Amino acid sequence: MQEIRVGQLDASEVNFDATLDGPTLTLPERLIDDISGGAYALDRQKSLEREKYPHDDTVGLSNTTIQRILSSMVIIVPCKNEAPETIEGVLSGIPNSCVVILVSNSARTPVDRYEQEIQMLQRVCHRTQRRRAFAIHQKDEGVAAALDAAGMVGLTDPADGKIRNGKGEGMLLGVALAAVVCPDMQYVGFIDADNQVPGAVHEYCRIYAAGFALVPTSREHAMVRLRWASKPKVRDNQLCFDGEGRSSIFVNAWLNRLVKTLSRKADNKETNLIVTGNAGEHAMSMELALKLRMAGGYAVEPFHFIDLFQRQGVFAKQADKDSNYEASTHHEDNNGMSTNTKPLYQRRDRAPPIAPLVTSTAHRSLEKPVRILQIRTLNPHFHRPSDDQHIRGMLESGLGAIYHAIGA
Ligand code: GDD
Ligand code: MG
Repeated sequence: MQEIRVGQLDASEVNFDATLDGPTLTLPERLIDDISGGAYALDRQKSLEREKYPHDDTVGLSNTTIQRILSSMVIIVPCKNEAPETIEGVLSGIPNSCVVILVSNSARTPVDRYEQEIQMLQRVCHRTQRRRAFAIHQKDEGVAAALDAAGMVGLTDPADGKIRNGKGEGMLLGVALAAVVCPDMQYVGFIDADNQVPGAVHEYCRIYAAGFALVPTSREHAMVRLRWASKPKVRDNQLCFDGEGRSSIFVNAWLNRLVKTLSRKADNKETNLIVTGNAGEHAMSMELALKLRMAGGYAVEPFHFIDLFQRQGVFAKQADKDSNYEASTHHEDNNGMSTNTKPLYQRRDRAPPIAPLVTSTAHRSLEKPVRILQIRTLNPHFHRPSDDQHIRGMLESGLGAIYHAIGA
């Protein structure tokens, strides 16, 4: 069984100092709680790439370190019918040294939006000469056939043989493509295409890199999950800087209840360890991305925790109990939103035709401990507003991933 450590950092003290080496990103060094609630301090001596910084509670990371990691990072941008100008803003915010993979599920008729996106991507690449970028459409028949032949159960729709709708499905496609077209990349990050502030996108990528610099990835799997400073909403013509998203409030609360149950601590104290259950903006080492199972639609982010807990073996007993659970949970609501809560990352040779959510693959060893850093951004997150129905669907997916995993 491998250990999973979940930590929280606050980037509110992030600052950029002019040094001979260029700007230096500094992160506050904080106590990090592990999943069982025990205190765990980042060990200054053992951490890789730490450069001395005068303040006691800060860790300095040079621009060279950040750049080195950024140039080993691929950023996957899932998009679906955003205006090309919006996506262009997002792509422009991604540091030049990162490889970009645009995974589009945009409409092809009456206007071919994907074609417009390609043209936009070419413009961005032309402007920023060192940029390496790839684009793929989620409904590409060739890639669906290739993934099907590789044994990806549940990813394609038997009705048309194409990859299903869904953000998780698009992300998985992006990871598979990254593994093929840029196997030299060590990290993979995700940034939504509907972000309206390119500067925030830039910050997210740099925070991913800073997080990875703090984890010795040769010894640990690393995942960085962003907690937005706020998610502003307009109410009564006023901009309100709400703290937590409408779906995240519930998903985080239930994940924390699960953590509390799993930690088997004697006290009755609630935990608020998990603050990024729904983190659309997250990144991980490529090695972890290729091992982690992914759920479809908007269940994808909460399911990361579930999959990691499952691999710890904590749900083993429930797996036996739940073996009658019908895995074919894919359905779409009236808006075409995928509410699939079933992991997609299963191979035919391992999963039975009607697989339970928890399968034997869930207990495959990760071989290294996993460190999850939850880092709070400085920037607020401005994106396309969602209606109540969309939020309800997202909530259903997130809570479904938890519910089916514990076999409640
Ligand atoms: N390729 C692809 N395929 N992309 C998709 C699909 C799809 O079927 N569906 C949605 N996307 C893209 C959108 O175009 C957008 O760029 C991104 O995924 C996020 O989708 P939104 O519809 O904007 O999600 P949201 O803003 O409600 O929720 C986001 O934040 C949540 C946390 O509050 C998402 O990132 C969620 O996954 C996250 O949990
Ligand atoms: Mg959005």
